[in-house]
Amino acid sequence: MIPQKTVQEILETAKIEEVIQDYVNLRRRGVNMIGLCPFHNEKTPSFTVSPAKNIFKCFGCGKAGDPAKFIMEHEHLSYPDALRYLARKYRIEIEEVQLTPEAVAQQQAEESLYILNEFARQFYQDQLFETDMGKSVGLSYFKGRGFREDTIRKFGLGYAPNEQDAFVKKVTQTGYKLDFLKKLGLASQYDKDFFRNRVMFTIHNLSGKPIAFAGRIMEKDAKAPKYINSPETEIYIKNKNLYGAFHAKTAIRKADECILVEGYTDVISLHQAGIENVVASSGTSLTEGQIALIKRFTPNIKILYDGDAAGVKAALRGLDMVLEQDMNVRVVLIPDGDDPDSYLQKVGAAAFQEFIDKESKDFILFKTNLLLTETKGDPVKKAGLVRDIVDSISRVPDPFKRSFYVKECARVMELEEEVLVSETNKAVKQILQKRDFDKRKKQEVKVNIVPENDGEFPSEAPPESDDFPNIISPKPRTAGHEFQERDIARILVEAGGKLYDENENMTVAEFVLGNIEEVLEDFDNPDYLRIAREAMQLVLGKTPVTTQYFIGHHDQTISELAVDLLHSPWEYSPGWEMHEMYLRSQKKPEDNFNKDSVSALLQFKLRKVIRLCEKNQHQMKEVAKDDAAQLIRLLKVQMKLNEMRNELMKQLGMVVLK
Ligand code: CTP
Ligand code: MN
Repeated sequence: MIPQKTVQEILETAKIEEVIQDYVNLRRRGVNMIGLCPFHNEKTPSFTVSPAKNIFKCFGCGKAGDPAKFIMEHEHLSYPDALRYLARKYRIEIEEVQLTPEAVAQQQAEESLYILNEFARQFYQDQLFETDMGKSVGLSYFKGRGFREDTIRKFGLGYAPNEQDAFVKKVTQTGYKLDFLKKLGLASQYDKDFFRNRVMFTIHNLSGKPIAFAGRIMEKDAKAPKYINSPETEIYIKNKNLYGAFHAKTAIRKADECILVEGYTDVISLHQAGIENVVASSGTSLTEGQIALIKRFTPNIKILYDGDAAGVKAALRGLDMVLEQDMNVRVVLIPDGDDPDSYLQKVGAAAFQEFIDKESKDFILFKTNLLLTETKGDPVKKAGLVRDIVDSISRVPDPFKRSFYVKECARVMELEEEVLVSETNKAVKQILQKRDFDKRKKQEVKVNIVPENDGEFPSEAPPESDDFPNIISPKPRTAGHEFQERDIARILVEAGGKLYDENENMTVAEFVLGNIEEVLEDFDNPDYLRIAREAMQLVLGKTPVTTQYFIGHHDQTISELAVDLLHSPWEYSPGWEMHEMYLRSQKKPEDNFNKDSVSALLQFKLRKVIRLCEKNQHQMKEVAKDDAAQLIRLLKVQMKLNEMRNELMKQLGMVVLK
C-alpha cells in the first residue's frame, strides 16, 4: 500500500500538461492547452488541458480528471498503479506500507499462479509456431478457420501436443513446483498434462494477464467434449470474467457499446475483422458479475444470438437481470444456423456490420414479438405471455422507459394499454416492497416530495414517448439532475464519515442517506446511484463511510469516480439561476458539510419537483381544449407541485442564509 502522505505528495507534484504530453501533442490556447483526444476518434481537437487547475477535460467524449485519472484511463491501470507510474515519472520514492504476513503469502501465491500461466501460454505458443506437429496440425487448423498470424499471437492462441506429459516435464525442468500446476488445472493429479492434442485459447484478465485456458478438439464429430476449460482459481473467477474483455475494453468505451457473443472464436473473428468491441459469455448465460463488468465501460449491450429459436428463448430469461441494471439491451439473430464467426466468414466484414446495425432490435420488443408468434391466438397462452412481458417491463428502473414499453407492447399484443399499465404497476409495487432497506429512525427534511404515483408510473405517457430513440438511448452525461446527484455523491465521498450532529452522534452519510432513502432509486445517473447505494450498505453495516473506502474501492468505476469527485471543480447546474436559486453556496465551503449536505438534499429534491412541474405543464398544453375534467386534474397536480416547490425553495433560502 502507498502511504497517504506519499499519495498526497504525488498528487501535488504531478503536472497535468507534463503527464499528458507524454502521449498527446498539445498546443496553447489562451490559458489552456488543447489537442486531439486520446479516448475517442476526432479530427478537430476538443481535448482541453488546464495547467492552472491541473485537470484535463474532453468536450467531445466527456472524459475528465486529474493526472492520476488520465494515467488510469490511458494505461488502463488501477488507481494505486497510476500513482506508482506518476511516482516513477517524478522520482518520488514510495515506501510501501508493510502488509500482514497472510496478505504477503496470498499475494505471492497469486503471483505464482500468474507466472505459471504465462509460462504455459508461452509453451503452447511455442508448440504452435516452432514445432512441426504444431505447425502442421495446430497452426493449419487456425489458418483454415481464417485466423491471421497477428491475430493468433494477439489472442495468445496455441497448441497442446498429443503427449502425456510434455508440459509437465517442461515445468519440472524449469524448476517450478507442480502443486500450483494442479491448482491451475494444467496438470492432472497423476502429474499428466490436462490439455492434450488440442488447440489452445488463452483467457486473459482485464489487464491482459493469462488467467486460464480453453482447449478445443480439432477433429470433427469427436466423442470428447469440444472444449475443455481451466477450473476456477483465485485468479480466475468464471462469473466475473468475459472472454475478450482485455482486447475489447478500449473499443467498447469508444463505441459506447459492447457486443456480446457466445464463443471464443466469435470474439476472435469479429476482432480480426475490425469489430473490436466484442466479448463472449463462453456459452453460459450472463451473470451479475459479468454485467457489472460491462457496465464499467458502457450501458449499451448488443447481443448476437446464433439463430436457433429454442436456444434464444432460453437465453431471453437471463436478460431481465440486465434490464434491472438499467442497461439498454438490443438483440440480433444471426441467420441460417450460423454463429457470428461463421456468418462473418460467409458474408464478409462490411455486410456483417451492416447486418448487425440494421437487424438489431430492442430486447423487450423483440421478446414480445417472438413470444407472440408462439401463442398463435390462444388466449391462455396469451395471458402467460402478458405475465412474462410485464415481468420484464417492471424490472426497468426508469419509469419513463417503462411507460414507453407498456405503450409499445400493448400495441404489439393488441391489448388495452390500461391493462398493461395496471399489471405493470402491481409488479413494480411488489419489487419495491421486496427492497429491504432497514427502516431506521430518520431525521426528516419535512417535505413530502414524492407524489403519490412516483416510483411507479407516470399517470400519463411522457411527452417524449413518441420518440423512440430518445427514450432508449443512453442519457447524455450532463442531462437532468446530474449536478445535484453528483453533489450528493461528492458529499458522501468527501465527508460521509464526518459527524453531522455531535449531540446525536450522527454522521453526514447517515443524515444524507436517511433523507434520500425513499428517492434513492430516483437517481438518473447510475454511477452516483452506486456511490449512494454503497454508502447505504456501509451505514447499514455500521461501517464508517470514508474517502479512502471509495478511492481504494476494488471496483475501478467507483474508485475512478471518487477521485474525479474529489478533484473536479465545484460546479452547479447551468440554468440554476433560471429557477431563481440562491447561488451563495456556490463557493466550496471550507468544512461546513452540514450546511452543504442539507442544501444538496433540498436541491436534489427540488430538481425532481421542478422536473415534474415541467412535465405536467407540458401535458396541460397537450390536453384537448374541451377535456375539462382532464385539465382540472392536471391543474390540481400543478398546484400541489408548486406548493412543494415553494416549500423547498423557502427551506433552501433558510439554509443558505443561515
Ligand atoms: N463451450 C464450452 N465447452 C463446451 C462447448 C462450448 O466451454 N464443451 C463454450 C465455449 O466458450 C464456446 C462457447 O461455449 O466458445 C460456444 O460454444 P459453441 O458455439 O459450440 O462453440 P464455438 O465458440 O462456436 O466454437 P467453434 O466455432 O470452434 O465451433
Ligand atoms: Mn463457431
